[in-house]
Amino acid sequence: MSQYPPTPSPGDAHPASAAAGAGAAAGSRLDRWVGTYARRTASMTASEIRALFAVANRPEVVSLAGGMPYLPALPLDALADLTARLVAEKGAVALQYGSGQGEERLREQIVEVMRPQGIEAHPDDVVVTTGSQQALDLVSRVFLDPGDVVLAEAPSYVGALGVFRSYQAQVEHVPLDHDGLQPAALEEALTRLARAGKRVKFLYTVPNHHNPAGVTLSLGRRHEVLAIARRHGLLVLEDDPYALLGFDGDPLPALRSMDADHVVHLGSFSKTFAPGYRVGWAVAPHAVRDKLVLASESAILCPTSFGQFAIAEYLSCHDWLGQVKVFRELYRERRDALLAALSAHLPHATWTHPRGGFYVWLTLPEGLDSGAMLPRAVTGRVAYVPGRAFYADGTGQRFLRLSYCFPTAERITEGVRRLAGVVRDELEVVQMFGPTAPRAGRPAVDGPGPELA
Ligand SMILES: Cc1ncc(COP(=O)(O)O)c(C=O)c1O
Repeated sequence: MSQYPPTPSPGDAHPASAAAGAGAAAGSRLDRWVGTYARRTASMTASEIRALFAVANRPEVVSLAGGMPYLPALPLDALADLTARLVAEKGAVALQYGSGQGEERLREQIVEVMRPQGIEAHPDDVVVTTGSQQALDLVSRVFLDPGDVVLAEAPSYVGALGVFRSYQAQVEHVPLDHDGLQPAALEEALTRLARAGKRVKFLYTVPNHHNPAGVTLSLGRRHEVLAIARRHGLLVLEDDPYALLGFDGDPLPALRSMDADHVVHLGSFSKTFAPGYRVGWAVAPHAVRDKLVLASESAILCPTSFGQFAIAEYLSCHDWLGQVKVFRELYRERRDALLAALSAHLPHATWTHPRGGFYVWLTLPEGLDSGAMLPRAVTGRVAYVPGRAFYADGTGQRFLRLSYCFPTAERITEGVRRLAGVVRDELEVVQMFGPTAPRAGRPAVDGPGPELA
């Protein structure tokens, strides 16, 4: 009879628990449950890159890695007052369990928040979630069986890839360019997969100010993508936390505004207000919405009451759109600083020109591998996210993501100057010894980790 729990043998150390247990008493580094985990946890490992990010967070390193909004720009004193008032006046409700679908008042406000994108929804269509990250999890939980195919842009948001992997889905990438996802490639992928008898459950896309590519899906392509979705009976998962952070005028119409039947739309207050509240949402056709609410209740009972009450107060008592404008101006200035520094210092690379959001996607000179280069970069006191994190198929070595949302313009300029030195040194090595052997295979970053948001 097999022993339960199984006795660990040397070498059974689970990477995550080994890291967590570092410094603990000898013996506790072995994971006695290693033979017990569900198969889906096979993809849940922490990569070596996380250790580098721990160093990258030190003040002497210019981190162009994290997608953290610049919260010092918030009216923090006013938020402190709002929070104190909320507890004093409404604490008995705001600190209580709430509805699984989310507070009705906030859902009404979310309908208004989405209006600039042309979305005409009813508060009943909205499910409040623990950030849009939980919405990604819920949609996956509701739709994905092991082996199902998810189509996703190449590259794609690392946190979404982690969720799809955890449901044992197979991610097939569809290329994008400066106008976003390429509709012809989408059509081709659907036809190829149908011929192979594969079940495609949905297309995952970030249409505005893409993470990590920094591009936006053009209006013409929005129509094309939806026409393809209708033709193939394909659900589109529109993940849209950056829509209101465009630098050049009004946002383009959301995919959800053009087709309410084929689109599940995700939004979030993380980038336009503050991620610490952990409030996002999904807007879905009614049958899907019902399943999302049940899935959410089984996972968390209800989303944060306190966070929802606080955001509802903030939206009704503050000029929240004015605050979004403050963020936009700040990020525009930092984007300009990053693009100017790249032009000045990195003649051998190319990069995207975002019109909003947080990210620039950079292509290194031929022969360089951004993952292999990262230790040298961190030693040179600059950090980025290697491109391989954003591909499910282990490719993407030549790319890297730079975030301009958090460091000041001066720090960004200094960071790019340091990066340019690192690239120069790496190029010299490659010219002398030949390119680093491509390290395709396991993705470089196995889970999102908050530092990679
Ligand atoms: C494209 C995208 N989707 C979802 C998320 C998750 O955001 P949150 O859970 O904070 O709403 C992020 C965070 O960086 C993101 O960039």
